[in-house]
Amino acid sequence: MKILLVGSGGREHALAWKIVQSPHCEKLYCAPGNGGMAQIAEVVPIEDTNISLLARFAEEKKIDLTVVGPEAPLALGIVDEFERRGLKIYGPNKKAAEIEKSKVFAKEFMARHRIPTGNFRVASTPEEALKILNSGEFEFPVVIKADGLAAGKGVMICSNIKRAEDAINEIMVRKKFGPAGDRVVIEEYLQGREMSFIVFTDGARVQPLVTTMDHKAAYDGDKGPNTGGMGAISPSPFITEKLFTQIMETIIFPTITRLLEEGRRFKGTLYAGLMITADGPKVLEYNCRFGDPETQVQMLRLESDLVEILMSVVNEDLLKEEIKWSSKTAGCVVLASAGYPGSYEKGKLIRGLEEAEKVPGLVIFHAGTSLVNGQYYTNGGRVLNVCTSEETLQQTMKKIYDSIPLINFEGMFYRKDIGAVKEAK
Ligand code: AMP
Ligand code: GLY
Repeated sequence: MKILLVGSGGREHALAWKIVQSPHCEKLYCAPGNGGMAQIAEVVPIEDTNISLLARFAEEKKIDLTVVGPEAPLALGIVDEFERRGLKIYGPNKKAAEIEKSKVFAKEFMARHRIPTGNFRVASTPEEALKILNSGEFEFPVVIKADGLAAGKGVMICSNIKRAEDAINEIMVRKKFGPAGDRVVIEEYLQGREMSFIVFTDGARVQPLVTTMDHKAAYDGDKGPNTGGMGAISPSPFITEKLFTQIMETIIFPTITRLLEEGRRFKGTLYAGLMITADGPKVLEYNCRFGDPETQVQMLRLESDLVEILMSVVNEDLLKEEIKWSSKTAGCVVLASAGYPGSYEKGKLIRGLEEAEKVPGLVIFHAGTSLVNGQYYTNGGRVLNVCTSEETLQQTMKKIYDSIPLINFEGMFYRKDIGAVKEAK
């Protein structure tokens, strides 16, 4: 099969790494790809949101399967366009992707169907938002979320009214996230342990991926601004059989079934960002795609053929046999550029990659890198993902943290506490 993978982050490098291991994959193209993906696939300089060009490329090259990594092309309707042209593509269509694109839609959907989530209100103007915030309905800290896509950065946790007013000002008045800030969700702050629960679904049946725990805050001790994710481990240390069943029954199955009933059949990867609270698991957000960096640890543990799973979803006949996963732990630490998730510089020379790649069992996925004349340079906020999989969490994290000092680039920073599991906050 000829396969086209859309995207350019660490998540896509991990998917590419797994796809090329499949005997079904005869040729892999990545658009636009990155420096790491260029080592294992042919990178094509087409932006991930240039849907018409991607579709034309797929037609010309007779691509048998296109796999979409990021949410932006999904929200723009890449799946609808490919399907209109009779091209096979993995991911939800525009109507189903709404579950990630609009936080307002997602919260109202959950409320409509009694899927557990925090209390919330929606505001369409700054005045309305301030009225809700001053009404005493929500205690502080309160969570304020821009309605649309903001690369995981449109969520602000505000400890007092002043901070909340500043957040409303940034999101709704100064439009830090553009039109994503036309509406906001004001939400109850949930306490507990975060867990990413991700499933493959053909819109009717479901096969869960192994659980993961993301580390969203930029700095150690869960301090600092929220990022797309600074590291992940799998399995989540907090999963139990009982909790697993509860999540499937109260969250995953109702979500898939209700979407189908509402005419939004969801085919692809459904990602439920959860908080495991004292009252049970509650949804923080949905994503309509694989997680980043969750995918990096999941692909390290996946033993089944990824291409077969993806094709079975596209064909609305999700794999009947259980997907096989390694019983080991996997970990991933993100090396980021100084300033991320705010503004950062690009084009810094990356040193030591070859040395690090010699460490047995260490896998380095590229997130924001470019390959120029045989040298790698930084090309994004999240630059590299240092990953491995060992018997225990402790062995996994030790190998990763022992290897990171081999690598360096100007301004490199990373969290030192990925996988250092603490009690619930
Ligand atoms: P989201 O993009 O909605 O998942 O939010 C990003 C991050 O903000 C989450 O991973 C949580 O760490 C935090 N967060 C979001 N909503 C809440 C909430 N209601 N209570 C506590 N933390 C939250
Ligand atoms: N790591 C969080 C996400 O992929 O949204």
